[in-house]
Amino acid sequence: MGQVVNSVETKKLYIETVGCQMNVLDSEMVVASLRRHGYDLTDSIDRADTILFNTCSVREHAEEKVYNHLAQLKRMKLAFPQKTIGVMGCMAQKDQKQVFERAPYVDLVVGPGQLHRIPELLQRIEAGQGQQMAVSLGRRDGSQEDIRRSHETFDPLRDPTMRPTPFQAYLRIQIGCDKFCTYCIVPMTRGPEQGRSPELIVAEARELANQGCKEITFLGQTVNSYKYVNEDKTTRLADLLEMVHEIDGIERLKFVTSYPKDMTAELLRTVRDLPKCSTYLHVPAQSGSDEILKRMKRGYTVADYYAMMDRIHDILPGAAVSSDFIVGFCGETDHDFQQTVELVRRCRFKNSFIFKYSVRPGTRGAELYQDDVPEEIKALRNNQLLAIQNEISQEDNLAFLGQSVQVLVEGPSKASIKRGEPGPLRQLVGRTQCDRIVVWDGNERQIGQMLNIVVHDANAHTLFGTVETMELAPEVFPLPSV
Ligand code: SAH
Ligand code: SF4
Ligand code: F3S
Repeated sequence: MGQVVNSVETKKLYIETVGCQMNVLDSEMVVASLRRHGYDLTDSIDRADTILFNTCSVREHAEEKVYNHLAQLKRMKLAFPQKTIGVMGCMAQKDQKQVFERAPYVDLVVGPGQLHRIPELLQRIEAGQGQQMAVSLGRRDGSQEDIRRSHETFDPLRDPTMRPTPFQAYLRIQIGCDKFCTYCIVPMTRGPEQGRSPELIVAEARELANQGCKEITFLGQTVNSYKYVNEDKTTRLADLLEMVHEIDGIERLKFVTSYPKDMTAELLRTVRDLPKCSTYLHVPAQSGSDEILKRMKRGYTVADYYAMMDRIHDILPGAAVSSDFIVGFCGETDHDFQQTVELVRRCRFKNSFIFKYSVRPGTRGAELYQDDVPEEIKALRNNQLLAIQNEISQEDNLAFLGQSVQVLVEGPSKASIKRGEPGPLRQLVGRTQCDRIVVWDGNERQIGQMLNIVVHDANAHTLFGTVETMELAPEVFPLPSV
């Protein structure tokens, strides 16, 4: 049955999302809730009644881009004052009223812990009640319980149509972070670390499976530190993986982002023993220098990190590990940087995300240390490390030549979309269970399936191949009828 939509009442929502997977998930939730309040999505700012920016504060550059974008909307807002502009996410929580000061024509500021209030706040704006703001409590602005409450999220709202593919979903198992790495703003924007209850998580995973989801990625800032205590029972990530592993329909389980110190042998053995678990681990090292790690207050040494890598490879041979690095952190010498290079060479990550240090006001790092590495040096180190990582990624990807890999088919590849291939025969993209990207010429009917692909070429980022099974060949190359 077709959905009855009253075109007079339907409002158009434009939403732009930057930042980490948490923000992607938050946007899915907000759109799901606004759909229930009569909104429909549009990809045009001009046609939108409501424009939302889901923002990130992890680096200054991400914030400046949003403020620049807002500045561009000033004229539009003057011409069409009935359009609503909202800033949500981490920058809304961090800057609060300052958003209104820098862009007075913004109507709405909502932190990540208050997103459930967006429909109500939009109604208030419509009713002429002026600018609205909803943010969570600061880390010292109330009792621990009140602070935690104010950062809780409203996760069970799921909308498969909002995800890039309906058969893959993020599931938040942990809110906030208590690690307080000295460079990082996240503990301030997302509040205290709290594990969501296992019952809620399993119920949400069931709902996702019922909606046809095959792959679930658990999300948390330090996802492997997950802990939920209920009376005398403690649930950890390994227990959650076991519980969700039982759900029919779920075929793959992943979790990001892991914290090196909490990568226990017990968790690794659980990953090994549960066939649906991906042998892919994202465990940011951040630096290869003990001195810098100490200043970052990461809580481990380079030797600890190497010991963790040994543990991973002992228990999960062939596991793919990826990392994050910050170059040019306060006081980073050339010697420190060379130690990071050494760590990247020894650990042979599948890939690394490399960032230039960006001072974040409100962090311990901004208070304690001088941002003394010149921008050119940061850029140079960034490029050098990236080149080394790319070389390693390419070498390791080439080892897949001739091998058959199992992929979950995600959809048309970027190149296919760009070329505007009309389908059903088009270039498709999928991921292996160790998170490698694979591209091949396929058939749209393969989307959502698990498929074996034989790899015949590779670069640093992608494996290229052909479908191994002959099942679909008659459709791709129709046989003459006899
Ligand atoms: N919770 C995750 C990461 C969250 S932020 C973890 O702990 O691993 C994602 C990445 O951004 C971090 O791993 C770090 O490499 C980078 N990052 C965080 N703060 C930064 C800053 N002030 N400047 C540059 N990069 C930063
Ligand atoms: Fe930030 Fe450190 Fe927490 Fe990751 S673990 S979110 S880097 S404070
Ligand atoms: Fe950015 Fe917030 Fe994620 S600061 S990285 S969007 S938790």
